[in-house]
Amino acid sequence: MSDIDKTKLSWDEWDELHNPPPAETDFDRVVDSAISRRGFIGGVLAFGSAAAAMGTLGNLISSTSAQAQEATSRFPFKPVPIATDGTVHVPEGYSWKPLVKWGQPLFSNVPDVDAATGVSIANSDKVFGENTDGMELFVVGDRQVIAVNHEYVNTEVNLPNNDKGMPKSADDVKILQNMQGVTVMEVAESDTGWEVVLDSPLNRRIHHNTPMKLSGPAAGSDLVKTAADPSGVDCLGTFNNCGAGKTPWGTYLTCEENFNGYFGTTDTNFTLPDDYKRYGIAAETRYAYEKFDERFDVAKNPNEPRRAGYVVEIDPSDPNSTPIKRTALGRIKHENAAVVVARDGRVVVYMGDDERGEFLYKYVSNGIYVPGGDTSRLLDEGTLHVAKFSDDGTGEWLALTPETTGMKMDEICVFTRQAASKVGATTMDRPEWVAINPVAIEAYCALTNNSRRGEVKDGKLQTNAGGDEMSVNATNPREKNEYGQIVRWYPENEDHANGKFKWDLFCMAGNPDVHKDTYAGSSNINSGNMFNSPDGMIFDSTGLLWIQTDGEDTNEGDFAGQGNNQMLAGDPATGRIERFLTGPKGAEVTGLTWSADKRTMFVGIQHPDAPFPDGAGKLPRSTVVAIKREGNAVIG
Ligand code: FEO
Ligand code: CA
Ligand code: CA
Repeated sequence: MSDIDKTKLSWDEWDELHNPPPAETDFDRVVDSAISRRGFIGGVLAFGSAAAAMGTLGNLISSTSAQAQEATSRFPFKPVPIATDGTVHVPEGYSWKPLVKWGQPLFSNVPDVDAATGVSIANSDKVFGENTDGMELFVVGDRQVIAVNHEYVNTEVNLPNNDKGMPKSADDVKILQNMQGVTVMEVAESDTGWEVVLDSPLNRRIHHNTPMKLSGPAAGSDLVKTAADPSGVDCLGTFNNCGAGKTPWGTYLTCEENFNGYFGTTDTNFTLPDDYKRYGIAAETRYAYEKFDERFDVAKNPNEPRRAGYVVEIDPSDPNSTPIKRTALGRIKHENAAVVVARDGRVVVYMGDDERGEFLYKYVSNGIYVPGGDTSRLLDEGTLHVAKFSDDGTGEWLALTPETTGMKMDEICVFTRQAASKVGATTMDRPEWVAINPVAIEAYCALTNNSRRGEVKDGKLQTNAGGDEMSVNATNPREKNEYGQIVRWYPENEDHANGKFKWDLFCMAGNPDVHKDTYAGSSNINSGNMFNSPDGMIFDSTGLLWIQTDGEDTNEGDFAGQGNNQMLAGDPATGRIERFLTGPKGAEVTGLTWSADKRTMFVGIQHPDAPFPDGAGKLPRSTVVAIKREGNAVIG
């Protein structure tokens, strides 16, 4: 691995290098495991004839998936083929235009970025950050405001004159810190399309040094106190903001994912605390912040990384509001936060922890949501649960409480992974976004892939970082799962607050042109719609599921015929999936929201390799594009 240029890696790839390398496969074990589930039919699960023919795992696929090919289309577009080029493609009758891209000013007295020099330190908190990710649109009075994440930076883009873009000074570190976090920006549509409203009073950048508050059970705990903040309440910055969410009361939820990579030390005498291992906090960091900003040096501030890894609530209607880290929602590598109000008014938040073999979570508030009422404690007072999937198509949400874990409440909120391991949660294939169907009581999670599922190393089954075995199970049914799947669950009594559910797989991604076994994918995957590594996922208001990918775009070998990363739409009723958009080479397609009138769709294009969107000779810029339909028709 020494010849790998780590500055060129996506954050996920960088993080994987901190884990042990994969081992040999154990094929016999997988076959045994699959055969033991033969004959399982019932409830929401059934053998589809096509699925059953696929192999012993066919019984795990939803019956709707098997019917996909006979379905009547409800897709308002003609699907697009794969692409391998450097731009965005949408179906006939649709068009796209950039809304905003890396380094673009949010204020009129700030120049556009100069690709040769990067963004100046003075301007770096006044421009659109890099690596756009989760986003939501809010209506504030008569304004439309988008809050959007900037997950991480490519150092060579932002510090183009430094060796590999690595910071050489405190100012360099500050530039990188400012180009990440969150942008809140007013947007408006004119005859020439959508634009950022320069100088809007709602425009705001939130970054790695923005003052925030910790709230909930871990606020004020000794676990999160530092020399600079003996209160354990006043923290700075939000990190690795990946997916997002929106509350019914109009706030934005930004989710801290791979926060571990920012904190480390060059002090070789420092012994890393035991709890660091589970979260991958190591001496080495991605951007070497600790060399110039001692807050990130864990030898000096061992509690600082325990103040990251949360869901952070931001009020986009008040540019002076203080973002709040909601510790009751747990400290994990948060992907997104999907919020729904349960039958009795309690607030339910579903959240994935994106790492191999980590878990799927659900928070249920104690209080109920009353429109216009006090919502300030709904995300502080409640119970966190973790999912246990059974191979018979049922499942339960296991509460994480002092009684079930033997841990204090602040410990549960800071060492959430350890708490979840204690109750026996199901190890998953990297839970990414959760999406909640607005027209049916069901939710979906993208399980993006898991290269080590079912593998055996030195005679031992691979585990997550906490030692929980990643055996093949019905929900995560493929060894060395390089394609991913989407699991769906139906809460008992049609109540998202209920502790039990039934589940099935909405689809298993795969490649039917290359494989004839389970790696071909489920029956709703075919040569014309195949993809790998589902990641971003969100429902539109009509109940169509939009799926974005962050996977291999080599278009070779196991991924031949899949092209660049893409966005597809899935019909929950039929299982049918069609491709709507292809992204530029190298890019991940991530983040999706709509204008208030649903006549524009905003889609994020993260880290293109090609000179997107400005064309030949220009620097690639992470970009949000606005997609319109002919006749200004509704688009979701
Ligand atoms: Fe930032 Fe799991 O994607
Ligand atoms: Ca993601
Ligand atoms: Ca991903």
